[in-house]
Amino acid sequence: MSKILITSALPYINGVKHLGNLAGSMLPADVYARAMRLLDYEVLYICATDEHGTPAELAAQAEGMAVADYCDKMHEAQKSAGADFKLSYDYFGRSSAPSTAALTQHFAQVLEQNGMIEERVSKQVYSNADGRYLPDRYVEGTCPNCAFEAARGDQCDNCGKLLDPIDLIDPYSAVSGSKDVEVRDTKHLYLKQSVKSDDLRKWVTSAKDWPPLATSIALKWLDEGLRDRSITRDLEWGIPVVDKDGNPRAGFEGKVYYVWFDAPIAYIGATQDWAAETGGDWESWWRTDKGADDVQYVQFMGKDNVAFHTLSFPTTIMGSGEPWKMVDQLKAFNWVTWYGGKFSTSSKRGVFMDQAIDIAPSDYWRWHLMANAPEGNDAAFTWEEFQASVNSDLANVLGNFVNRITKYCVGKFDGKVPDGGVPGEAEDKLISEMQIGLQYLKQKYEQREFRQAMFATRKLWTAGNEYLTQAAPWTHYKTDTAQAAIGVRYGLNLVALFAILARPIIPDAAAKIHAAMGMPMLKDAWKFMRPEILDLDYEVDPGDWSKEYVTNILNILEIGHNISAPDVLFTKIEDDDIATWTERFGGGEA
Ligand code: MF3
Ligand code: ZN
Repeated sequence: MSKILITSALPYINGVKHLGNLAGSMLPADVYARAMRLLDYEVLYICATDEHGTPAELAAQAEGMAVADYCDKMHEAQKSAGADFKLSYDYFGRSSAPSTAALTQHFAQVLEQNGMIEERVSKQVYSNADGRYLPDRYVEGTCPNCAFEAARGDQCDNCGKLLDPIDLIDPYSAVSGSKDVEVRDTKHLYLKQSVKSDDLRKWVTSAKDWPPLATSIALKWLDEGLRDRSITRDLEWGIPVVDKDGNPRAGFEGKVYYVWFDAPIAYIGATQDWAAETGGDWESWWRTDKGADDVQYVQFMGKDNVAFHTLSFPTTIMGSGEPWKMVDQLKAFNWVTWYGGKFSTSSKRGVFMDQAIDIAPSDYWRWHLMANAPEGNDAAFTWEEFQASVNSDLANVLGNFVNRITKYCVGKFDGKVPDGGVPGEAEDKLISEMQIGLQYLKQKYEQREFRQAMFATRKLWTAGNEYLTQAAPWTHYKTDTAQAAIGVRYGLNLVALFAILARPIIPDAAAKIHAAMGMPMLKDAWKFMRPEILDLDYEVDPGDWSKEYVTNILNILEIGHNISAPDVLFTKIEDDDIATWTERFGGGEA
């Protein structure tokens, strides 16, 4: 059994995330984790809150809370939002945990020993009124690129350009609003990324199975010439810059590491915390000298995170000269947009996870967001399409199928899987559709092509409905019960199969169907879809989706096994609901 380590970009602490964040990292990572667990891989899915940096301090200040308290509160809020969406993290940690601080100090030390870190004097905005330096978002002013008047020090929200605070025109303090600011010289540590340019390019170009989006972003930065990056900031909140004895480093009093230096290190820190809590072995996931060379490591993230994961964090890892596991497959996503415009945490535009769960069950969101995953392009969220996904895919196709056949079996066959009948044309057609469809679906999950995996799933559901229409047990029942029995039996076996296929995507509905079908929630239920596991009396090539094999899948339920009809699986979304939500959240006016 092989091992898959999965991480999703660590959600920033400054608020519950919106649907765009969910769809571009945590949710696809969860669907992948669940699918791979079913396929019997040993999976470790790690996430955490990303808690340092100026946005945390500013958000805490806005709520009148101490930063540490604010982070405690928001960590819990994000953890429970994740649980509401059924995100199956093996561990949801915190970048503020001692594990990450210790690892960060460790990396800083080895990088320095290896000549990868350098002290440099740089220019910084200093506020006389506040008596402090103003890093990143603490300074605002006019964008030198587009003349937008409220550009932040690190980035202009209007034109998107990454900025250096000293480039702002008419800068002022975001803390006090004071314009009494000046540019001073101060020391910072720089990570010499440029030294690793060639190694990084080799690594990026030899990477396998990255979407073009990820590779192209990494290469663009490399082509433009990689710049060394400052990895310290003038802040109190964060991991302090200390010397090897743990004392404040001379000239770095009151400085901490830059949030993007320690955040990816928290992937490792959170794995250590997982191990401490569960007795697991973190090194077998992260140290290639301790077994992690067998691990397939997959990262999930939005496109704005790609440069940090393909260039800066790999520089940290490579520069350490130590045998740390590096990412194998990096799945990057475009944006989910709000009617074509931007979701925005700061201006509260769009739907946030805690609000979403108030208005519709998690399965509905999970299905819709994955069926429309922003893989090739940005994908616009609209209420109308959300309604269509739920009503036509979930309610009409899957829900209707399950309902139709289970109710019929309860009514006419006493809720028992019936015996009798000889498979004919309809069953043949169904089996050949399943042969192709199941193989395709498994492949799409393994390739992390979520839209196509959802499409394939829906196609299997549709094939099930078409089968029932053709087999029409209700028509045969009066004249030939054996003929009716075969339609019911295959139909019920399809329900069992669909229950398993639903588990990565819509886990609540899957659990309801499992219960109604009297099926145990086996951890590796998908085993029965793997040719090599079924006890067949002929030689099978793993990966061979033969007719015999698929026929076996469709006869997996024992004759006489008791089933029941589940309660309504999916309630349709009415036009009135859409009107109410549009009123509450806006939409369309982008
Ligand atoms: N907090 C960042 C964001 O939300 C992502 C950090 S990913 C990490 O965009 F790996 F660096 F933690
Ligand atoms: Zn601008």
